Amino acid sequence: MAAIIQVKPITDVPQHLSASAQPQDPAFFQNPYPFYAQQHAGHPAFFWKEYGHWCFSDFRSVSALLRDKRFGREILHVATREEIGLPEPKPHVADFDLTEKHSLLNLEPPDHTRLRTLVNRAFVSRQVEQLRPRIRQLANEMIDRFEGEESVDLIKAFAAPIPAIVIAEMIGLSAEMAPQLLNWSNRMVTMYMYNVSRETELDANQAAADFMAYLRSVIAERRKAPREDLLSHMLTTDRDGDVLSDEEVMSTAILLLNAGHEATVHTTGNGVKSILESGLDPQSLFATPEQAEKTVEECLRFDAPLHLFTRYALMDTEVDGISLRKGDVIGLMLGAANRDPARFANAGTFDPFRTDGANVSFGAGIHFCIGAPLARIELQESMGVLFQRLPKLKIVETPRYGNVYHFHGLERLMVGWR
Ligand code: HEM
Repeated sequence: MAAIIQVKPITDVPQHLSASAQPQDPAFFQNPYPFYAQQHAGHPAFFWKEYGHWCFSDFRSVSALLRDKRFGREILHVATREEIGLPEPKPHVADFDLTEKHSLLNLEPPDHTRLRTLVNRAFVSRQVEQLRPRIRQLANEMIDRFEGEESVDLIKAFAAPIPAIVIAEMIGLSAEMAPQLLNWSNRMVTMYMYNVSRETELDANQAAADFMAYLRSVIAERRKAPREDLLSHMLTTDRDGDVLSDEEVMSTAILLLNAGHEATVHTTGNGVKSILESGLDPQSLFATPEQAEKTVEECLRFDAPLHLFTRYALMDTEVDGISLRKGDVIGLMLGAANRDPARFANAGTFDPFRTDGANVSFGAGIHFCIGAPLARIELQESMGVLFQRLPKLKIVETPRYGNVYHFHGLERLMVGWR
């Protein structure tokens, strides 16, 4: 199940609580913040006409609803398709659906708890801390490759390859596979676009099929000859006799590989842009580990890479006076919550020295990002090296965000450094 959609139309929405913004309108996805500010000032909980469901844009609600057990990422464990009017799965995206079938993101307890416990160990801070030198080395290597040129697209030459190589190596795939993994992943995430076309669906499905065929062959190799990598670990891990099936390992590896770089790439691009546009001295923002941490947190807050996550109501219920039926969808607006003026002083200002930090960019509750410690380390180290090596870094072309509203990230970021 790709994008979660509201199936049963919601009627009787009071006019004043309904708001309109077209997710594919360039004026909107280039800068959704004026719309968020308007909702914060008027009605932070509102009915988003284009999506056809209720959305929450304030920090308090988003952070509470992410933890609220009345809502879940999956609905078919508590309702039938007929009951909530969910259409049958589309046969032409069967391969894509298979990759998502055992995805942590789509599971609810107890299945979620079991799978998450089995993979979590690799991502705890203690483990990922050891990757700092490798991340710095990769950042230096990328800069070595383009430093002799006049300008470069920082997304392609720096932001994308580093997290893709790091997660590929963690799973146990070679760094040379990173461009191919990026290609499959970029094509698969188009399934989350608003109003996705059949052509796009077919292409995403093909990418999923190719990705699975590749992983099947690697899994077969690792079964014969296990190594010291996450894939072998997932194949052999045994918790009270509980072992993951090949399908579960495949879904998890694909989720980790895709989630393991998409948002980090976007945060690097958005973060570098925020820092350069702020007029602050970039080097000083990474001068100490403590300040580097604060700077990265502010990058995550100020221009989050993921703006909208959805949940199903698992029962008939009510939130802030809004009645919801079982199966109704709600939208949790992470990017908007991070700019809530009721939670942050000068919410619209990039301030890496703020003392009222915190953000919901990594979510909250049981689906809280498993890769948050890794992403934070990647961002601190890679941006730190970037500004240390290229202190005169500057933007040389107006940056443009890509047309996938949920994934708020730059298509390219042209920079120079002389
Ligand atoms: C800046 C970078 C990142 C951001 C902003 C981010 C954000 C998120 C968010 C918001 C969720 C929760 C979605 C929901 O509640 O519906 C999530 C879940 C997840 N993320 Fe990340 N992520 C990042 C990097 C990573 C990395 C590096 C990895 C992999 C190593 C990763 C793996 C995952 C996984 C596996 C889940 C699902 C967890 C679950 O459902 O239990 N993410 N991420």
